[in-house]
Amino acid sequence: MPGGIASSGGPSGLAHPCAFVIFGATGNLAVNKLLPALYNLDRHGRLAASMTIVGFGRRAWSDADWREDVAASLREQLKTTIQDDVLGRFLGRLRFVEGDLQAAEDYQRLRARLLEEGGSTNLIFYLAIAPDLYSVVSERLGESGLHEESAGWRRLVVEKPFGYDLESARMLDARLHRFFTEKQIFRIDHYLGKSTIQNILVFRFANLFLEPLLNRNYIDHVQITHSEDKGIARRAGYYDQAGALRDMIQSHLLQMLTLVAMEPPACLEAEALRDEKVKVLRSIRPIPPRAVHAHAFRAQYTRGMVRGKPVPGYLEEEGVSPHSTTETYAALKLYIDNWRWRGVPFYIRTGKRLPEGSSMVSIRFRHPPQQLFRETPIEQLKPNWLLLGIQPCDSLRLEVQTKREGLELRATTTQLDATYCESEAARLGAYEALLLDVMNGDQSLFLRYDEVEWAWRVVDPVLKVWAQERDFIHTYPAGSWGPEESSRLFDQDDHVWRNAL
Ligand code: BG6
Repeated sequence: MPGGIASSGGPSGLAHPCAFVIFGATGNLAVNKLLPALYNLDRHGRLAASMTIVGFGRRAWSDADWREDVAASLREQLKTTIQDDVLGRFLGRLRFVEGDLQAAEDYQRLRARLLEEGGSTNLIFYLAIAPDLYSVVSERLGESGLHEESAGWRRLVVEKPFGYDLESARMLDARLHRFFTEKQIFRIDHYLGKSTIQNILVFRFANLFLEPLLNRNYIDHVQITHSEDKGIARRAGYYDQAGALRDMIQSHLLQMLTLVAMEPPACLEAEALRDEKVKVLRSIRPIPPRAVHAHAFRAQYTRGMVRGKPVPGYLEEEGVSPHSTTETYAALKLYIDNWRWRGVPFYIRTGKRLPEGSSMVSIRFRHPPQQLFRETPIEQLKPNWLLLGIQPCDSLRLEVQTKREGLELRATTTQLDATYCESEAARLGAYEALLLDVMNGDQSLFLRYDEVEWAWRVVDPVLKVWAQERDFIHTYPAGSWGPEESSRLFDQDDHVWRNAL
């Protein structure tokens, strides 16, 4: 399983003991991601025996009520991998504290329950709640003294979106820092817990052959794509305010870009790694307002067919305003103005209701300098591609030109392929890896505030222009790869979106 890059977990792999407090214990994130991930860690023997999981929420539930609810949802979600003995042990860890996120006295009750439990004095506070409540909860925790580290450590885990734009991110950060120090704040980007994302670093820096080629002398352009066949599920309330640029690009895809483009860090410690990522973000050429249309493209899906089934258009989704111009597809062209990458376009795109769900980085090499085969039946040589598949499977693929069988000199594209799909039972996801890192205090796969701030600076000019131009948005039928017009971002005629590995 992937651990933090410079994981501080013990050799046994056992997480440090703690109480894991979930705010928003009955919400989507807790139910669909956190609790299954914690269960999986338990199944793999990674949780300390004394670890407890404390749900904080408004329902008038006892521990038993919450356990019953969690058991049913884990059985439903994990079906084949659920084991009764592990489930029994896991449910025994659960405690429920009824409380209102705004009410100071309820935090005193939480505090009392945590003390009464005894057990570990290390505490994790996981904010699996609406982003506009992050600052309130962190302040209530602080006011009730729950942030103090006099006995054991305290860690605050904050989900994306971290702010709504640059200004709100700054304000949020200032409020979190009223009580918590940077060492205590874990800004999670679950993409960084995906094993192939970490594999980008291993592949780049554990092999000698590639690194000398990854620069403006050899690389024509880079594409980073995250496509989803699913729609917005029941998240209209959040998504219609956010849109694809905030939801995916400001966070996950810019993080991918930093890993592909960064210089080798001095070592694998969190700060060294994050320093290099920030350098990349700082080197991205700002997009001036007048150039937004040349650098950014947005669109929204209409009704269509995905995997053979009819699906509604975005405006027909439950909870979406019928006049919404929120983008469900966004593409950006960015330049990184440093010695390594100056002049190489990075095309980034994401969309919902595309034909398939996949994430990949596609790196196209330049053509060889000499057209040696011009006079032969090889009319035009295809360029080399290096393809890094993040999901559904981890994969590394290098496309090279080789001679076709036969007497004539013809070329064919051959793929050197290292694809790796784990079995369902063995698979441990991004959240498992990151939760373990929080318990072990490893921040290398979490965002430092300056990373978040520089990422907002990249997208902020685009958001501002789009916010003013609310009367029109391009559309694409669900199940297609997005509108043709997105190709207006390309620098050259032979640049096209690469949709598959
Ligand atoms: C989340 C976004 O952060 O990432 C979702 O809010 C998106 O809209 C999801 O679907 C994609 O992540 P994954 O791991 O499901 O590919």
